[in-house]
Amino acid sequence: MFAVKVFNKSSFARGAEEGQCPKYVHFTREKEALECLCHESIVKAVEVGETELHHFIVMELGREDLGALLRCRGALREEEAQHIFRQLLSGVGHMHSRGILHRDLKPENIIVVDETPTAGISVKISDFGHSKKVKVSAAPGPPLMMHVHSLHVGTDFYAAPEQTDGRKGRFLQSGSLLALLVDRGAARASGPRE
Ligand SMILES: Nc1ncnc2c1ncn2[C@@H]1O[C@H](COP(=O)(O)OP(=O)(O)OP(=O)(O)O)[C@@H](O)[C@H]1O
Ligand SMILES: [Mg+2]
Repeated sequence: MFAVKVFNKSSFARGAEEGQCPKYVHFTREKEALECLCHESIVKAVEVGETELHHFIVMELGREDLGALLRCRGALREEEAQHIFRQLLSGVGHMHSRGILHRDLKPENIIVVDETPTAGISVKISDFGHSKKVKVSAAPGPPLMMHVHSLHVGTDFYAAPEQTDGRKGRFLQSGSLLALLVDRGAARASGPRE
């Protein structure tokens, strides 16, 4: 079974350029990001294409998103949160190595694909609609050391401190997520901006 994300071409306003339709811009960003990413903690695009009426991305299907799991179970045990966080950091490391910034990491954009007593909760990062491609610096340094020039996107509740105070610097949005996993704050968040 698969999940399919569909963009209806009739959503283009009459005469509007594709680039002026925010939903299409999000769809295109997601398509381009998924096409160049391949990692066990990032949702895989099985097929990308279009018909006369639609653009579509076929993805592997997860069970639910992490927001739903947190709402149902409340705060996770520390070991569970650590296990999920390791998977997320691994996925974020991969996307950063490819010059892709997700910019909207939050429980609703993390898909729970499996849970077993031995392996625990397995997750994959999804929804690259707000992602951005940046140049990867050739300078030596930790792989997650990215300089971001356009930080005013994503969902405020999960934003890294340097996003909200306007500084450019290390992108620590993942830190906000870790706090959330053990603090059951999911219900307080609102939607993304941009
Ligand atoms: N591969 C998947 N497997 C299972 N559920 C999924 C999958 N992809 C998305 N979902 C569910 O659908 C919800 C919405 O999907 P997604 O986050 O990709 O889109 P969106 O936030 O509506 O899109 P956008 O921000 O690009 O407008 C997710 O929060 C999740 O619950
Ligand atoms: Mg989403």
